[in-house]
Amino acid sequence: MNISGNTIFIPGATSGIGLALAEQFHAAGNTVIVGGRRTDRLEKIAAEQPEFGTVQIDTTDPGSITRAADEVIAKYPDLNVVIAMAGIMKVEDWHHPGSFLESAEAVVTTNVLGPIRLIAAFVEHLAEQPASTIVTVSSGLAFTPLQATPSYNASKAAIHMLSESIRLQLADTSIRIMELVPPSVRTALLPGQEDSDFAMPLDEFVSEVMTLVRTQPDAHEIQVEGVKFLRYAERNGNYGEVIETLNSADPHGN
Ligand SMILES: NC(=O)c1ccc[n+]([C@@H]2O[C@H](COP(=O)([O-])OP(=O)(O)OC[C@H]3O[C@@H](n4cnc5c(N)ncnc54)[C@H](OP(=O)(O)O)[C@@H]3O)[C@@H](O)[C@H]2O)c1
Repeated sequence: MNISGNTIFIPGATSGIGLALAEQFHAAGNTVIVGGRRTDRLEKIAAEQPEFGTVQIDTTDPGSITRAADEVIAKYPDLNVVIAMAGIMKVEDWHHPGSFLESAEAVVTTNVLGPIRLIAAFVEHLAEQPASTIVTVSSGLAFTPLQATPSYNASKAAIHMLSESIRLQLADTSIRIMELVPPSVRTALLPGQEDSDFAMPLDEFVSEVMTLVRTQPDAHEIQVEGVKFLRYAERNGNYGEVIETLNSADPHGN
């Protein structure tokens, strides 16, 4: 995707990576619409950063996705980029199914069904644009597991393969698929993660992402340097070692 001149909808931009990317994309000369569930956050963004469009959306609710898509497309007919950012992460103890089943289901609904439904809601509109991009958001944990978060890791592995597969199917359209593969980044995704020494500072991560988008506009994956030890552990032949390091370095974080 081009670094500027796009109209970009980011469901999952009321905080964290989504909001930081929204700010950077706006600064780079794009029209940006931010989405999320928390209306207080959306109202604050609309008041303090009126350069952004805001749309309320709950990506676990098919009706909400359809309503938000209709609203965004009607208001921004030039929309040509959707970044499926919304996601949640939960710690689970698989010795005790009663303790994790409900949150595991929420993880799958948000992180897997959410992007599938979002893409379905926008694909026809995006295919009508001269050049458009769907950005999916996986994780280094799609490639090397953190023991504390099995359903999350699996949900992000699903996003990786979904991205690979729809890229093949949509190759005959104007839509390109770009997968963002973050390492651990200092956001509120998990309690305590904003202060984690193991996690990458948010501004450094987002600035490296913007450089990669600018210099590799046709990349299939946006991989900052800090994610490559996870992304390529299996190929590098040190998968077991990396699993050990990852799980001893930050037992609860990502
Ligand atoms: N931070 C990391 O270390 C890391 C690493 C790899 C991948 N990621 C991925 O990056 C993405 C952003 O996470 P983050 O780290 O920036 O965490 P975050 O600050 O918690 O942001 C999550 C965003 O997703 C939104 N969201 C969650 N559930 C939603 C729903 N049902 N409907 C609509 N929006 C929803 C939240 O907004 P509302 O609460 O307002 O709905 C929020 O804007 C996630 O997909 C995450 O898995 C993060």
